[in-house]
Amino acid sequence: MQFQGLVFGVPKEIMQGERRVAAIPETVKKMASGGAKVLVEKGAGTGAFFSDDEYAKAGAAIVDDVEELYSEADIILKVKEPLFNSAKNMHEVDMMHEGQVLITFLHPAAPSNHEMIKKLSAKGVVGLTLDGIPRISRAQAMDALTSMSTVAGYKSVLMAANRLPKFMPMIGSAVGMIPPANVTVLGTGVAGLQAVATAKRLGAVVHAVDIRPDAAEHAKSLGSRVVDTGVPSGIAVGEGGYARHLPEEWLIREREAIKGTIIKSDIVIATALVPGRLAPVLVTEEMVKAMKPGSAIVDVAIDQGGNCELTSGGEVIEKYGVSIDGTKNIPGMVPESSTTMFAKNVLNYASNFVKDGKIVVDLKDEITASSLVCKDGKLVHAGAREAMGLN
Ligand code: NAI
Repeated sequence: MQFQGLVFGVPKEIMQGERRVAAIPETVKKMASGGAKVLVEKGAGTGAFFSDDEYAKAGAAIVDDVEELYSEADIILKVKEPLFNSAKNMHEVDMMHEGQVLITFLHPAAPSNHEMIKKLSAKGVVGLTLDGIPRISRAQAMDALTSMSTVAGYKSVLMAANRLPKFMPMIGSAVGMIPPANVTVLGTGVAGLQAVATAKRLGAVVHAVDIRPDAAEHAKSLGSRVVDTGVPSGIAVGEGGYARHLPEEWLIREREAIKGTIIKSDIVIATALVPGRLAPVLVTEEMVKAMKPGSAIVDVAIDQGGNCELTSGGEVIEKYGVSIDGTKNIPGMVPESSTTMFAKNVLNYASNFVKDGKIVVDLKDEITASSLVCKDGKLVHAGAREAMGLN
C-alpha cells in the first residue's frame, strides 16, 4: 500500500483569518485506505466547514495537542508557512523535527520568510514548497497555485460586483433597457481567465488585456473583447512562452493603449503578473481620477505590488469615488472550495514522492527538484539562496 506505515499530520492554520486547511475528509480517506495514520488537529477544518466528526469518520485521529501532532507525524500538510503559535508560545518550526517532511506554500524567496526558512533548514526538515511546482502537464493536478488563482479570479469579480452601485447584466424592465456593466480584466492567465468567465456569466460586457497573444486568444474564446496593447509578441513573450517584464518605454505605450478602455470600465480586475517580478503598473492615478465614481477595482496582483498604483495592500480604499480593493488571501474568502482544491492538490503532490510507504525525494524528478527548499540541513532553493545573498 502506498502510504503504509506513514503518519500524516494536518494542523489547524494559525495565520490570522486563515480558514483553509490542508486536508478534507475525502483526502483523509484516501490516505487512510493507503495505509497511513492521519492526525488532524481538533477544529482544523471548522473554518472551511469540515467537522471533526467527518474527519474521524474518514479515518483520522483527532488530536487536541498540536505539539503531539508535530512530534508524531512523518509528513506535515499545511496551507501557510510556519508561524509563531501564540497559544503555544512556540514557533511552528520549533515543533518540527529532523527528517520530517513539510509540504506547504513556503514562499522561500520572500524576505519576510528568510529567518523561518533558515531555521527550518537548520532543523533538518525536508521543506517542499507548493509555489515551486512547475506549470507542466504532469504537475497540473498538484498545482495549488493555479487552483488558488482560479478561486481568486472568480471571487474578485463577485467582490467588485457587490460594491458596484449598478447591475452587472443588461436588464429589460418596464422603464426601459438598462445597459450591462463594463468589466476590464488585466492579465488573462489563470486568475484573469476565471475572472473573464465569471463576469461573462454575470452578464457584463468584458474587455481583456494581455500582452501574450495566446492569453488574449483564450480570453476571446470566452467571449471577451480583446484590447490591443500595442506590444509586439517578440517583446512581450519570453522563454517558455511566459510574459516578459516590459521595459518602461513599452509599459508607457501599453498604458496609453488601454487607457480609454479602463476609463470607461465600471470594474477593473487586475491580475497581470510576470513570475518572479513586481507586477506591472497598468492603472495610474490619472486613470482612476478619470473613471466614473462608483466604479470598482480589485487588485488581485497585490502580493506582487499590484497593477494599480493607488492600491493599498490588505484593505479597501476609496479614491476619486472609485473603490480600490487590495484584499490579500482572496482564496481564504471561499474556504470550502479553495480547501477542497488545495487538499486534492497536496495529496496528489505527496503521492508523487511516496512509494510503498517510503518517502523518496528524487531530485531527478522535475516536480520535486523545483519545489525542494531544504533537506539534510542544507538550503537548496536557488531563488531563496539568491534572495539571501548566499550564492
Ligand atoms: P498567470 O501568470 O497565469 O497570469 C498573469 C498574466 O498576466 C499572464 O497571462 C501574463 O501574460 C499577463 N501579463 C504580464 N504582464 C502583462 C502586462 N504588462 N500587460 C498585460 N498582461 C500582462 O498568473 P495567475 O496565476 O493568474 O496569477 C495572477 C495574479 O493573481 C498573481 O499576482 C497572483 O499572485 C495573484 N493571486 C492573488 C491572490 C490573492 O489572494 N490576492 C490569490 C491567487 C493569485
